[in-house]
Amino acid sequence: MGSKITSFEEYKAVYNSSIADRELYWAEQAESFDWHKKWDTIHSGSFEEGNVKWYEGGKLNITENCLDRHLDENGDKVAFHFEANDPDEGPRSLTYRELHEEVCKFANVLESKGVEKGDRVAIYMAMTPEIAIATLACARIGAVHSIVFAGFSAQSLADRIQDCDAKMLITNDGLQRGTKLVPLKDISDEAVEHCPTIENVIVCKRTENDIDWEDGRDEWWHDLMEDASSEHEAVEMDAEDPLFILYTSGSTGAPKGQLHTCGGYMVYVSSTLENVFQVDQDDVYWCTADAGWITGHSYIIYGPLLNGLTGVIFESTPMYPDPGRLWQVVDKYDVTHFYTSPTAIRALMKEDIEYVQQHDLSSIEVLGTVGEPINEEAWHWYHDKIGNGKCPIVDTWWQTETGGMMISPMAGITPTKPGYATLPLPGIEPALMDDSTKEEIKGNGVQGDLVIKQPWPGMTRGVWGDEERYMSTYFEKYPGYYFTGDGCKRDEDGYYRITGRVDDVLNVSGHRLGTAEIENAIDEHNKVVEAAIVGYPHDVKGEGIYAFMTCDDSIENPESFKKEIHDLVSKIISPIAKPDKIQIVEGLPKTRSGKIMRRILRQIAAGEGDDLGDTSTLVDPSVVDEIRAGKAY
Ligand code: WT7
Repeated sequence: MGSKITSFEEYKAVYNSSIADRELYWAEQAESFDWHKKWDTIHSGSFEEGNVKWYEGGKLNITENCLDRHLDENGDKVAFHFEANDPDEGPRSLTYRELHEEVCKFANVLESKGVEKGDRVAIYMAMTPEIAIATLACARIGAVHSIVFAGFSAQSLADRIQDCDAKMLITNDGLQRGTKLVPLKDISDEAVEHCPTIENVIVCKRTENDIDWEDGRDEWWHDLMEDASSEHEAVEMDAEDPLFILYTSGSTGAPKGQLHTCGGYMVYVSSTLENVFQVDQDDVYWCTADAGWITGHSYIIYGPLLNGLTGVIFESTPMYPDPGRLWQVVDKYDVTHFYTSPTAIRALMKEDIEYVQQHDLSSIEVLGTVGEPINEEAWHWYHDKIGNGKCPIVDTWWQTETGGMMISPMAGITPTKPGYATLPLPGIEPALMDDSTKEEIKGNGVQGDLVIKQPWPGMTRGVWGDEERYMSTYFEKYPGYYFTGDGCKRDEDGYYRITGRVDDVLNVSGHRLGTAEIENAIDEHNKVVEAAIVGYPHDVKGEGIYAFMTCDDSIENPESFKKEIHDLVSKIISPIAKPDKIQIVEGLPKTRSGKIMRRILRQIAAGEGDDLGDTSTLVDPSVVDEIRAGKAY
């Protein structure tokens, strides 16, 4: 660990000096890690050029910093407690020494299969310690991991494998989440049929479901691990060598592969975790996300290990076997730092309070939220019922692209405000922009598009294979700034409150989905002419998915048609992208240039269709009345 900020006064001083001299601040943050060789330059490049680099010339391996570095003093400390889907499955914890051994063994396995530095490896796995082992083993040999959330469909998995030409896929036979079995190997088989670059599929056994097997391509994890040596010398990486690719949705087209690099990402996730959560060596830290999202990469796998903490890997869901599961697990492991999504909080606060009261939550010191705005009611419930009124809540704003937390309170150090991500972390300079003038909005009590003014070490270095898209998505709208895609308010005290996406990206239960992706999937239905997707306020998911569509046949049975749309979206993307509501319409509101006026659809979907403002730019304003009068299923 580096050194934590310990008071609000210190935060202000450190923040100001970090902005005055960013390079000095980030050099200091990098000092406490093990480098084979220190960097030649702290920072180079710019947003304008899209060539930002940090710690270039520095040589390291992130897994030595996650594992080897802790062995002498903390080898017997638990790195991960594993909480299986079935609460009665026997206990399993891995110490730092055991995790190091497993990672070394699997690194040897990967090398024995011909995986080399720079090769891409896709990981599509259950939430067991093996997903962390596979991830870290890739990092140890310098292979670029691309984790695909195990809720994605075969087609989504194939798209992601093809985009980065992965040469290996690591998966499980299946996974069990709650009462549901997900046949990961079957899904992988279907995906790999379309992925000629995949040479090997390594299958880690987790369930009892029957699977198909292709000799020569498929191999069991446990067979390969049996003879693998537990000694492995980590491959030396440059700070700017790729560490991983993670796909995320944008407002147009297919998901983009965000590229993160070794040195800057390491320094950034480690120092943000330490400052925001204010962790100490004997803490038990639990982030309930899935390793398939950036939250899992940064704050289940890398961040906690870099800080030498004890973490929890949780395979199940908040509702299984009952809505007290999260609190039971907190009680079981004496969790001190608990990090979850507003959606989970909103779902759990609807349940009987007995599910909370049955468990001893007195170990909790700090609560966190991430992924979406938290409403005040949920914030207070979390604060009062889970934190017993005494634990600070860190509402952490960040993105797949930012690598780590950007705007957030520091627990117990800086003030909190319900619904506010509050203040920027050191080295991070946010600003609000006026969409029409493209000028920066100064002062307090204002609202605009959230941008970041200067590069930081954890930021995305590119969109895999598509430099043009990297530039146009993040650096074109406001030249010289990084554009986040979020709207934001800065209140009278200078505190930031994220108001939600300003582009065509939805945030459903903290999952990021592009409207274009869902529309493209629905357009595949043979009866659908055109679909338009918008979000609408949803009391648990934050945002629900509302699909308006024109069809070329009359739809006799809208309920069964909705089911067909659901099956199609699940097959092409994932069940998480299924529309909550569908409405069949005669026409969509379009401008003369053929652009769908989503503002109108959003207002109707939100039940605010009575006052639609100016609709005169529509080709056919009468479609609006028809849509307003129509029925959603
Ligand atoms: C988008 C990024 C950050 C890891 C998980 C999501 C929204 C994120 C907050 C927050 C309000 C938030 C933003 C952002 N978001 N954190 N604390 N308050 N909104 O990562 O999938 O890349 O999504 O999530 O809209 O742009 P992601």
